[in-house]
Amino acid sequence: KRLVVLVSGSGTNLQALLDAIAMRGTAVYGAEIVAVGADRTGIEGLARAERAGVPTFVCRVKDYASRDEWDTALTEATAAYEPDLVISAGFMKIVGKEFLARFGGRLVNTHPALLPSFPGAHGVRDALAHGVKVTGCTVHFVDDGVDTGPIIAQGVVDVRDEDYEDEGGALHERIKEVERRLLVEVVGRLARNGYRIEGRKVVIP
Ligand code: GRF
Repeated sequence: KRLVVLVSGSGTNLQALLDAIAMRGTAVYGAEIVAVGADRTGIEGLARAERAGVPTFVCRVKDYASRDEWDTALTEATAAYEPDLVISAGFMKIVGKEFLARFGGRLVNTHPALLPSFPGAHGVRDALAHGVKVTGCTVHFVDDGVDTGPIIAQGVVDVRDEDYEDEGGALHERIKEVERRLLVEVVGRLARNGYRIEGRKVVIP
């Protein structure tokens, strides 16, 4: 299966996928990363792709006259690689209706909180502010909401007293350790076994 991975930052989730595929081989893992896309230049996520010899593309919102034109450009840039699955791994933009029309049902996102709790761009900080005792991460299909699509898998992370000292930096790193393993496992299963989305349920045979 062909994967396009979308990033906006450090790309450690991307790196986990690259490492798993390098270690197990495309045939065994069931997928290869055919391109990495980003909404900005100069990020470690793009450097990771380049080091792995994976083609990259960048679609910056400010380069387009409107958000819709950016959405079209992102859709076309992604479609050029004919992906079977698109993985949003730390991609910090909400894709538009054209992207969803083209890739809905095969667009996977990972979020650093236990959805439906704490959706949006500050899931870790919001969970801490709420005083939760456990949080975690969610891998889900993207629908037309923000972090609202059918949930594929979740991982739980305990919150520690010291997490309140650094606005969630340490907590986010602990979440990312679980998140990377969860994403690698889920993407491999989706690629190897196929899947069905039945309402809010995801069935992986
Ligand atoms: C991940 O925790 C992702 O869920 C969140 O931002 C982080 C991205 O990390 N949206 P990285 O870029 O994969 O290192």
